[in-house]
Amino acid sequence: MRSKLVIGMLFAQLLCCCLSSVQGQAASPAEPLNNEVHSVAGEINAEIWPQAQGPIALDPALEKRIDGLLNQMTLRQKVGQIIQGDIGSITPEDVKKYPLGSILNGGNSAPGGDNRATAEKWLALADEFYKASQACDLGGGPFIPMIWGTDAVHGHNNIVGATFFPHNIGLGCARNPQLLGKIGAITALETRITGLEWTFAPTVAIVRDDRWGRTYEGYSEAPEVTVSYVAELVKGIQGEAGSDDFLKGPHVISTAKHFCGDGGTAGGKDQGDNQMSEYDLMTLQAAPYPVAVEAGVQCVMASFSSWQGKKLHGHKGLLTDVLKGRMNFDGFVVGDWEGHGQLPGCSNTDCLAALHAGLDMYMAAGSWKGLFETTLKQAENGEVNMDRLDDAVRRILRVKIRSGLMEAGLPSTRPLAGQYDQLGKPEHRAVARQAVRESLVLLKNNSGVLPLSPSSTILVAGDGADDIGKQSGGWSLTWQGTGNTKKDFPGGSSVYDGIQQQVEAAGGKALLAVDGNTEEKVDVAVVVFGEDPYAEFQGDVQTLAYSPTDDTDYRLLKKFKDAGIPTVAVFISGRPMWVNRELNACDAFVAAWLPGSEGVGIADVILKSADDAVQNDFKGKLSYSWPKLPNQTPLNVGSRDYDPLFEYGFGLTYADQTELASLSEDPETDYVGSNVEKFFAAGKAVAPWRIYLADGVSSALVEGTKGSSPNKVLELISEDDQAQEDVKTIKFSGPSSFVISSSAIDLSRQSTGDMALYIRYRINEPPEGNLSLAIDGPEGGLGRQSLAGEVAAAEMGQWKELSVKLSCFCDAANLKSVTSPVVIHSSGKASISISDIRLMANEGQAKCLQP
Ligand code: BGC
Ligand code: BGC
Repeated sequence: MRSKLVIGMLFAQLLCCCLSSVQGQAASPAEPLNNEVHSVAGEINAEIWPQAQGPIALDPALEKRIDGLLNQMTLRQKVGQIIQGDIGSITPEDVKKYPLGSILNGGNSAPGGDNRATAEKWLALADEFYKASQACDLGGGPFIPMIWGTDAVHGHNNIVGATFFPHNIGLGCARNPQLLGKIGAITALETRITGLEWTFAPTVAIVRDDRWGRTYEGYSEAPEVTVSYVAELVKGIQGEAGSDDFLKGPHVISTAKHFCGDGGTAGGKDQGDNQMSEYDLMTLQAAPYPVAVEAGVQCVMASFSSWQGKKLHGHKGLLTDVLKGRMNFDGFVVGDWEGHGQLPGCSNTDCLAALHAGLDMYMAAGSWKGLFETTLKQAENGEVNMDRLDDAVRRILRVKIRSGLMEAGLPSTRPLAGQYDQLGKPEHRAVARQAVRESLVLLKNNSGVLPLSPSSTILVAGDGADDIGKQSGGWSLTWQGTGNTKKDFPGGSSVYDGIQQQVEAAGGKALLAVDGNTEEKVDVAVVVFGEDPYAEFQGDVQTLAYSPTDDTDYRLLKKFKDAGIPTVAVFISGRPMWVNRELNACDAFVAAWLPGSEGVGIADVILKSADDAVQNDFKGKLSYSWPKLPNQTPLNVGSRDYDPLFEYGFGLTYADQTELASLSEDPETDYVGSNVEKFFAAGKAVAPWRIYLADGVSSALVEGTKGSSPNKVLELISEDDQAQEDVKTIKFSGPSSFVISSSAIDLSRQSTGDMALYIRYRINEPPEGNLSLAIDGPEGGLGRQSLAGEVAAAEMGQWKELSVKLSCFCDAANLKSVTSPVVIHSSGKASISISDIRLMANEGQAKCLQP
């Protein structure tokens, strides 16, 4: 019974929660030549693609060694080589039984499930996995060590104490390829300290629609910047091909990702469809790949996205004919997180189509065991193309042998392993600090407000003022970068820290007040504000409007400006945004992007140096066009009717005397997107959601401060906690359900995106019945989780927080049509209060309960 009825009543209209899909119009840097040969959607003509050649010729002795290994390997071992499991789902014990070729740590996976585990723990776990794979019964086959891949995408960013570099968008503005080489080398070295040998970097996406939540992972909207960086970076990470320490010593294996077209999906939709022509795909989106191959990159990651409707994980033309054929790529192609399972006819545990299309290693994060078993069976049955399997294994072994892995021994015995004093050492941080300085783009400096005198009194305000987590963005300790505080970045500095150090040294005074309130008389205000951290998918937005529903930051700027205090805006963001109001409300505006752990680099540039000769100037030039309107996207240099607010390449220096005139504050569009992921806040359901109380066979809608179910089995009343009527208390006197419903929404991507149902609640008295949490669809229950364990552990009358992963309720595919994301059911007497219910990123806190 429960809410099934409620739902039946509700699923009439369908809520349109789809992003408006403004087509990713493809503006090519040059006019297409006469080579638009293909007309069949999703099919390519490999002959027109650029050729490339890696820097090392195939070594006959090495290939012979691989022949020998292939001859000795059992079929089980071969199948194991092409499968990678995630450390959140595979243990060393598992590796004793399954001879897998690789493991990874996804953004939320860490030793012991602790995203803040010490570097020592990472190295210890690397050793454990190595030993376990040695202990595996290989049926007489040769021992082949596993490789561990990690997203060291802006430094070794899963490790507390590492150097966190600015995200790629900032580096793109620096236009300094040599700097990228140094960053690559430091990242690789810090990765080696923890015993890992492979990074999933660089991302070489050419990002065309900044609504994409991964915009900041790309260097630029134009291929020229990325193309000029990729070789330096790959060589920095891997070492020079042919040198003794290529892929060894302080270096690791690098991955160019995501092949290809990831940055050009329609509407900037994550994992979406790139609809460009083959010519644009080749010249714009895939331009960095031949360069990466020529620099010796050993791995390429297939993209989650599709091109002209065809998923890349199954695209033989692109993976095999273009990448391995035309570009002569001789390393291996790794899949993305369960990306194979998205191919038509595939599931996470069954997908030969990907292997046959040219994928060499499946990133079977949580599905590795099922995939291993199915694929082994298929190999035994003769369904697997054995030449293809051997080729995939050969490519993986080639990289393993080239990197010296076969002889490297236990991770902790390798060069640099365990040298924790090298992690985040001053020399590394100095390079990150330089990168911060060079990435800053000055958009406005009216009356030459900057540089600021360090002997003045400077107020530093805004919620980004003293928050290294915020300034580091996504892919920082946690996947989405949420949940971090300053203490998670030992050795790092916030923007305030940098200003404070330098101002105090010069005899001035720096004050920190996040809310901007101070009694003191200040000479200038620096307001640090911007986007909160996000990563893949969760960072996708509907428009480029900055903070459309909350103008706290704008008001903070305006307060100082109106008081005649020179006001400097330091904007933290993963993309250019519509900030016309904020631009008007300040005298100077610095686009700081996501600077990482060395916030001090900002003070280096915005403060006046005692000695003019050593004054740091702004060097950053926009690598993404800055919009005039919230819905002005796609907006890319070279495209038709290009009319940005600040064009690609823009960036003031101290020599410029340009004054920015007041800008229109009219967004010219309804830019406030709907928020379907918040269900309950401030004492009520958040629109479009509504509360229903169900008992027996019917239910009642409750919109006011109180109400009851039709048979009065359930009562709802408003109460005060932090504010007036900000919580609701639900009183069950028999079997009944508290239900939050609306028209159906699709939560399947939220589920594969590791989101959790978060609830802040208080149990008021020991319940007599069983309490549970459920998610319902139009046809009834989709999945439930028992609250029994939580209730048993709860202290009566105390507020508690709970995050239950969506994936614990049911398979993602079953969440395609959800009408009631929140159903709290009790079988008997109970009293529970709620203050906040919404979807939230898993930062390691989310769990599964008993079904
Ligand atoms: C991302 C990749 C990443 C991988 C492993 C995927 O979801 O798309 O960029 O390397 O996860 O964390
Ligand atoms: C990401 C991983 C992340 C995982 C969480 C994936 O899509 O790529 O890095 O840890 O989701 O389940």
